[in-house]
Amino acid sequence: MSSQIEKSLVLIKPDGVQRALVGEVIKRFEQRGLKIIALKMVKPSIDHINDHYPKDEKWIERLGEKGFTTFKEQGIDPKQAMGTADKKEAGKMVRKWLIDYMTAAPIVAFVVEGIHAIEMVRKIVGPTLPSKAPIGTIRGDFSVDSPAVANIQKRSVKNMIHASETPEEAASEIKHWFSEEEIHDWARPDHEVMF
Ligand code: TYD
Repeated sequence: MSSQIEKSLVLIKPDGVQRALVGEVIKRFEQRGLKIIALKMVKPSIDHINDHYPKDEKWIERLGEKGFTTFKEQGIDPKQAMGTADKKEAGKMVRKWLIDYMTAAPIVAFVVEGIHAIEMVRKIVGPTLPSKAPIGTIRGDFSVDSPAVANIQKRSVKNMIHASETPEEAASEIKHWFSEEEIHDWARPDHEVMF
């Protein structure tokens, strides 16, 4: 079973902390059998968040494109809404708003460990855009935000949570947020019953 045990980084973004949803969020991971092995509240610097999010062109273009997809569905002209129809330009703008959002107030960072933790955490969190996230997921249950509103207001989509997407991303993100001493090895006795 040990090869299926993974670690994932989760951040409760400023809106989640300010809405006093920290307990509600953590409960959802714990009740599913996942284990919190590191946890802290931090007000990250601009540099720390800038280094947390990818900087490559492909990621930036994908960010712009994702917002444009919602615009298209809503019949919104990206040029009129954002001043550009270029996905790279739009992605750069979204990335900047994302840094503003993530550095505006404290966030809660933690590491979750468990069976298929990376996929399980993403499943509990739900897809990126709250307006599209199914009910039952954190993003779907606590928000209806959408790029169609956020990008026009020149701000990031408030989707409450960040969660690692791949094993490589999880490994580098955990290292970025936690030292080895901050990560704890402990056993949940209820796992004897669960698995
Ligand atoms: P992304 O990596 O696509 O999503 P996820 O957080 O699910 O891995 O996007 C990073 C963040 O960028 C996302 O959590 C919210 C923000 N964002 C916007 O503000 N506007 C947008 O149009 C998109 C697509 C994302």
